[in-house]
Amino acid sequence: MRRFPLDRLGAPSRRDFLVGASVGAVGVLAGCSGYADADDSGATDDGGPVDSGAATDGGTDGGADGGPGPDGDSGATGADSGAPSDPTVEEICEGADLGSPTECRETPDMGEGPFFRDDAPDRIDLNPLDEDGSDPLVVCGRVLDAGCEPVAGAVIEVWHVAPEGEYDMKSSDFRFRGTMVTDADGVYGFSTLMPVSYRDGDTDLHQHIHVRVNATGFAEKITQICFADDPLAGDHIPSDVKIDAPLDAAGVRRGSFDFILVRA
Ligand SMILES: [Fe+2]
Repeated sequence: MRRFPLDRLGAPSRRDFLVGASVGAVGVLAGCSGYADADDSGATDDGGPVDSGAATDGGTDGGADGGPGPDGDSGATGADSGAPSDPTVEEICEGADLGSPTECRETPDMGEGPFFRDDAPDRIDLNPLDEDGSDPLVVCGRVLDAGCEPVAGAVIEVWHVAPEGEYDMKSSDFRFRGTMVTDADGVYGFSTLMPVSYRDGDTDLHQHIHVRVNATGFAEKITQICFADDPLAGDHIPSDVKIDAPLDAAGVRRGSFDFILVRA
């Protein structure tokens, strides 16, 4: 399987932490929908479900440009450098229950919000500085079409708020941002920290991870991964974008989310 380098993956303990623990069964749900929360720029990020068409903004500069190529090979292998091998998707997702869906309903569109940045690094560890502040989180899943067939080579861009409640909009570390590509089975996976709720005007927003998916022949999908146990993720968040991500024995929250794309 293709190896995704984890930039600046630090202490071996972190690798052990992510890989060594039993992944266990992960709650599989389609995903939590995105709402556009207002940010300090006045744009909305997570305020509500997106009507059809709204998610196409910015599509022309989508992951295909800023991220890895269709084969997902960034050129950096890490595993061959002599340094300890970075965890792979296979490793961090080992044992994950990805399910065998027989009915695949398009993933709801959710607001992209104002905090997307182009050119997020090709990596599956979204916490390059090995920061603390919330529970470690591993999300695994697949990109599928409406017939539940895997979509290989889909470019997935992920971004979410940092533990202090701000998005990293400027630093070269691209904290809590990353780009990855699905393998031949449509599988992806990433590790990060649980996104925190942050303030949007007078509103505390639900915890959410923004995701943009681009694949040849399919309509771009912009959505969010949300959390079923988040009291702020009420009925205004579609159930298809809420996942269960329980803590495992190693203190890592693990969940699964399948992105269902439709043909362009
Ligand atoms: Fe957001």
